[in-house]
Amino acid sequence: MTNWNHKHIIDLSEFSIEDFTTVLELANRFKALPKSGSGKLPALQGRFVATLFFEPSTRTRSSFELAAKKLSADIQTFSPSSSSLSKGETPLDTALTYVAMGADVLVVRHSATGVPKQLAKSLEELGKNTSILNAGDGLHSHPSQALLDLFTLAQFFNSKNPNSQVLKGKKIAIVGDILHSRVARSNLWSLTGCGADVILCGPQSLLPEEFSKFVDNPPPGQKIDPINKRGKISIIRSLKSALREADAVITLRIQKERMNENLLTNLVTYNREYGITHETLKCCKKDIPVLHPGPVNRGIEMSGELLDDKKVCLVDHQVSNGIPIRMALLYLLVAGKQNDR
Ligand code: CP
Repeated sequence: MTNWNHKHIIDLSEFSIEDFTTVLELANRFKALPKSGSGKLPALQGRFVATLFFEPSTRTRSSFELAAKKLSADIQTFSPSSSSLSKGETPLDTALTYVAMGADVLVVRHSATGVPKQLAKSLEELGKNTSILNAGDGLHSHPSQALLDLFTLAQFFNSKNPNSQVLKGKKIAIVGDILHSRVARSNLWSLTGCGADVILCGPQSLLPEEFSKFVDNPPPGQKIDPINKRGKISIIRSLKSALREADAVITLRIQKERMNENLLTNLVTYNREYGITHETLKCCKKDIPVLHPGPVNRGIEMSGELLDDKKVCLVDHQVSNGIPIRMALLYLLVAGKQNDR
């Protein structure tokens, strides 16, 4: 099929341009499948995917589950509130329980950075063949979200052939709460990896200067950057100046739940300086799209009117693209694996 060689998907810093190409090509093929009939492919028949979400989710969990169903996998949903976590079971013992039931992939979300990586390491040490697919960990990484963002942008710029080359030379503005955003961190690896230049825009408290060097070195534990030449990252504090340059905008949720009380004293001030509306977009190049990973705080990072304007705001496309992207990721992790459990 491809030279895909990832057993787990933890962080997009590990993706080569061939990996991005493979995922987008496959997602494009899955998206093009007819919706009539059962709409299912037998590709993962007899395989077992478990979603272990230790932190809440609407979009990511539902679309992983739909993706697994569309590939005919068996799917099991772990629900923390009704699980044995409350009796003191650890995430590793929870994971091992699903491994013992025969899980091929554990899709893991956790509020603590590093949990999916640690689970992958522990499973390797125990000789288990189960893959870990990171569905968002702490402030670290949210690979499937960044890949569906990449796919949505590639489709916007080239609807006939949304491949990994389409973003080369484009300027993508990421606006808002970069500091608390695992999505932004994954966007930085994927967008620069595909040759886009990224403009980061936000106040000092939510966008420290060091983000301009974010992709200069691979993260600890990763020896090399598989991408030879990445796009550039710049920081522009003024929203208007950032938007003037941009070919597309990704705005981010203000993550109130991850903030200290003093960090952002005034959401009204934030909205006035960084909220995206039809009015603020007037300074932009013509017809640029606005993306948001969701969930949205209407009237804070984006106006309700803009969110509902489907000509400009691509949130619905992002959500629907989440299914073929996640089908591609599950397929790549499972299809090449020996059924040896
Ligand atoms: N974008 C995203 O991760 O949304 P959920 O928290 O609803 O999964």
